[in-house]
Amino acid sequence: MSKTAILELDGKKYEFPVIVGSENEIAIDINKLRDVSGAITLDPGYKNSGVCKSEITFLDGEEGILRYRGYAIEDLAEKASFLETSYLLIFGELPSAKTLEQFENDIRKYTLINEEMKNIIDGFPKTAHPMGVLSALTSALTAFNPKSLNVDNDKDIYEGVCKTIGKFLVIATWTYRKSMGYPLNYYDNTKGYVENFMNLMFSLPTGPYTANPKVVDALDKLFILHADHEQNCSTSTVRMVGSSHAGLFASISAGVSALWGPLHGGANQAVLEMLEEIHKNGGDTDKYLAKAKDKEDPFRLMGFGHRVYKNFDPRARIIKKAADEVLSSLGVEDPLLDIAMKLEQAALNDEYFKARSLYPNVDFYSGIIYRALGIPTDMFTVMFAIGRLPGWIAQWKEMRVNKEPIGRPRQVYTGAPLRDFVPMEKR
Ligand code: CMC
Repeated sequence: MSKTAILELDGKKYEFPVIVGSENEIAIDINKLRDVSGAITLDPGYKNSGVCKSEITFLDGEEGILRYRGYAIEDLAEKASFLETSYLLIFGELPSAKTLEQFENDIRKYTLINEEMKNIIDGFPKTAHPMGVLSALTSALTAFNPKSLNVDNDKDIYEGVCKTIGKFLVIATWTYRKSMGYPLNYYDNTKGYVENFMNLMFSLPTGPYTANPKVVDALDKLFILHADHEQNCSTSTVRMVGSSHAGLFASISAGVSALWGPLHGGANQAVLEMLEEIHKNGGDTDKYLAKAKDKEDPFRLMGFGHRVYKNFDPRARIIKKAADEVLSSLGVEDPLLDIAMKLEQAALNDEYFKARSLYPNVDFYSGIIYRALGIPTDMFTVMFAIGRLPGWIAQWKEMRVNKEPIGRPRQVYTGAPLRDFVPMEKR
């Protein structure tokens, strides 16, 4: 027999269906709550509110589990490539070798950016943060690709997916080239996606450039680890914007803006800046731990804590191991890594952090590895965005294909009741 939940309000009882997910997660379906009772629920930050049913990503924060389409993140990071993982997220199954090759070739068809986009980039100051430029450029892609995507047509969807993946990587790197005053590079269709990222970023017209394959491999893995994370802030933004039937580029541009904040994707940059500050001030990790615990001090230990994980973030484990491997294989010695490890150990043994289940998250080590790979600090959150792109696309597609209604939360109004208008001379 299916379960139900009973709510009693003002002496009346209301019964609601209980939905059980494929991993036995339980949700009370309150879709009819307001219709039958006149009440709504209040849940700031959506700590207890599910907004959709989704088949894409499973996350168990208590157990520290993350799976894309049923596949463990640990397996994907070790055995799959980023575009293979992207295909899995967006279309639901791992691609065959032939399908993957076709997918890669189809993405290549869309890697050229309209030259007029360069006029838009020229309008930004060199000092602009790459995430702001990326959000604006992603939105501007709509102007150059105005045909709206017909979500009832698989071919249209597939083309839209390939176009977005192809173009986003190029404009993401252009934000860096602009900040450096370098000429903007073109995608090289004879090379792979992640190798292209390195060329687009670092190749200069003054000489040949070859990306280090170890760096390419490490980046591929990092992109996989960031590829989706169910209904996080930026992804739910993408779904929300898309729910008004705004286009894919417009929705993703909004996702980029949401990701930028230091409580979300911007944390990777903030972690590195924090570690640099600790290093500059003599490496006293205890002092910063005390600041993080002090309620009068706004300082938080960046890269620690997570809304959903109340255990080790499985991505942080993989990144920490990768950071060790990459640093030793590239022969990089980074004092910031030592500070990070000291800080991590101190926090893990500290009552404040233990009591609140605050563990290192994905961003705690990612900045160190990006730094070792030669990625500038300002670009860290852009790296997150490149990795998160397939997740945003997959979630947008699922929401549109499932014909989900427009996102429109309610509120409890706590402002003034009706008042008489006060004429200007009486205020
Ligand atoms: N340093 C110190 N105290 C913390 C921290 C931290 N990093 N994170 C949470 N707390 C405390 C917080 O002060 C609160 O204490 P109390 O119960 O005494 O008031 C308690 O832990 C619960 O925190 P919360 O802010 O209610 O938790 P939340 O779920 O709303 O916030 C978070 C989650 C990730 C925004 C938060 O942990 C944080 O600000 N962390 C630092 C930023 C960061 O690393 N963000 C990256 C998240 S992972 C990548 C991604 O998916 O974007």
